[in-house]
Amino acid sequence: MISEQEFNQLNRILEQQTGIRLARHKCDIMASRLANRLRVTGSESYAQYYRLILSEQGTAELNKFIDKMTTHETYFFREMSQFEFLCTYLKDKPPTRSPVRAWSAAASTGEEAYSIAMILEDLFYNRSWHVYGTDISQTAISMAQEACFAMSTVSKVPTKFKKAYCLKGFGIHEGSFSVAKQIKEGCTFNVDNLLALKTVDYSFDIIFLRNILIYFDEAKQLEILNNVVKRLNHAGLLFLGHSEALRYKRDDLEMLKPCIYKKIAP
Ligand SMILES: C[S@@+](CC[C@H](N)C(=O)[O-])C[C@H]1O[C@@H](n2cnc3c(N)ncnc32)[C@H](O)[C@@H]1O
Repeated sequence: MISEQEFNQLNRILEQQTGIRLARHKCDIMASRLANRLRVTGSESYAQYYRLILSEQGTAELNKFIDKMTTHETYFFREMSQFEFLCTYLKDKPPTRSPVRAWSAAASTGEEAYSIAMILEDLFYNRSWHVYGTDISQTAISMAQEACFAMSTVSKVPTKFKKAYCLKGFGIHEGSFSVAKQIKEGCTFNVDNLLALKTVDYSFDIIFLRNILIYFDEAKQLEILNNVVKRLNHAGLLFLGHSEALRYKRDDLEMLKPCIYKKIAP
C-alpha cells in the first residue's frame, strides 16, 4: 500500500521531472508500477524509495522512476493514414530546404522516427534528410538508438518498406530485426524534455507530436505546443495523435485534416 503522503511526494517529483501530474485515483497504478523498483533497490517503503531517488546516488534510479511512470506504447506506422497523408503531401510539395528535417518529439523507443525515416529515404534517396527523435525517458532513447525490434512488430511495416529497410536478425539476434544502415544513420536520438528543451536547436519541415499531450493539463499542453510550433518551419507539417486535435483555432496553424496542421505564420 502507498500512503497519501508517499503518493504526493512521488507525484511531485514526477511533475518536476516530466510535467505530468497523476490524479489521486491513480495511486494504485503508481504503487504497482513501482513495486518492482522497490524490490530491486531494496527499498522497504515508498518513502524510502522517494529518499533514494532524491539522493545523489539515486540519479540512475530517478531515470528508472521516470521510465516506469511514463507510458511508452508505440509501434511502426501507428495511425497509418497519417503516414499515407505525409507520403502523398511530400510527393506533391517536397520541402525546398536541405536537408529535409523531421522531428519525432515524443519518440519513445524509436518506431515513429524510423517509420518517418523510411518514407523520407523512399522519397528523397537522392537528397539529404534527417530525423531527430527526443523523449524524456533515457531507457526508451537507448532502445531507439539500438534499433533492435521484436520480429513480431515488423508486421506493421508496409511490405515495400519491410523488404527494403528491415533486416532479420540471426544467431543471438534471432527473433528480432534491425533497420537498414541508411535508415539508422539518418536518425539521431536524444533525451529531452518538451517543457524545457535543451537539444533542439534547428527547425523542422515535419513534426510528429503524437500521443503525448493527453498526459498533461491544459496549461502544459499549450506550453508544449508553443515550444514545438516555434521549431516548425513556415509551411511545415505538424501531426498530433488522433485524440489530441486542437480544441481552438491558432493563428499560426491551418488544419489540413483532423490532427494534421500546416504552419502558416512565423
Ligand atoms: C505514448 S508514447 C508516444 C510515442 C509515439 N509518439 C507514438 O505516438 O507512438 C509517449 C512518450 O512521451 C514521453 N514523455 C512524457 N513526458 C515527456 C516530456 N515532458 N518530454 C518529452 N517526452 C515525454 C514518454 O516517455 C513516452 O515515451
